[in-house]
Amino acid sequence: MNKFSKLAIGLACSSVLLFGADIYLSDNTKVPNLTMKNTKLSFKDIEGYQNYKIVATHFRKDKNEIRYILANPVAYNALRADSKVMPNGSKVVKIGWSVNDMSSFPSALEANKIQRVEYMIKDTTKHKESDGWGYARFVKKNGKYQAWGGDPKSCVACHASVKSNNALFTKFQKMF
Ligand code: HEC
Repeated sequence: MNKFSKLAIGLACSSVLLFGADIYLSDNTKVPNLTMKNTKLSFKDIEGYQNYKIVATHFRKDKNEIRYILANPVAYNALRADSKVMPNGSKVVKIGWSVNDMSSFPSALEANKIQRVEYMIKDTTKHKESDGWGYARFVKKNGKYQAWGGDPKSCVACHASVKSNNALFTKFQKMF
């Protein structure tokens, strides 16, 4: 091995060490400037959510929607550790897609169009009336997002049925 190949290998190894933890391309697409009229929670509160980690996948049979549940680092660590209390600053995001048959293999389904992005954000001071969680939903129609106009009390009421699990239906899905 000559001096140059040694140098090249050295450089490659050190760049893996230096940058190895950050090799994904990140998605920093700006989210639209939309705010829920009742709670004043905005889409911007979860800006960068495309880079959160997936903690669970659900399929809603009646809505025919596949849902990915993503968590910011605070929520991810708490869910992974099966924490009984989700810390303030936790953000749990759900993306729902319609599904259609995969054209190259019709007995498989594939995600088609985003129907909604919704989230829960934990702040026990700001949202003390609703078990510490703030709820927001943004629906996508004809390629454009809009803030859902309904009453977030309905979110709180349904999620109350899983109060013993931090008001979350999601359970951390292990990938191994
Ligand atoms: C009638 C019951 C019901 C209502 C109303 C409801 N949800 Fe949920 N939600 C669920 C169920 C069931 C799941 C788990 C299955 C899934 O992912 O769709 C869920 C999952 C979620 C998740 C992922 C975390 C978790 O708890 O698993 C978020 C975020 C969420 N809902 C936000 C909202 C928001 C925001 C609203 C109101 C705009 C809302 N939900 C209204 C039943 C409900």
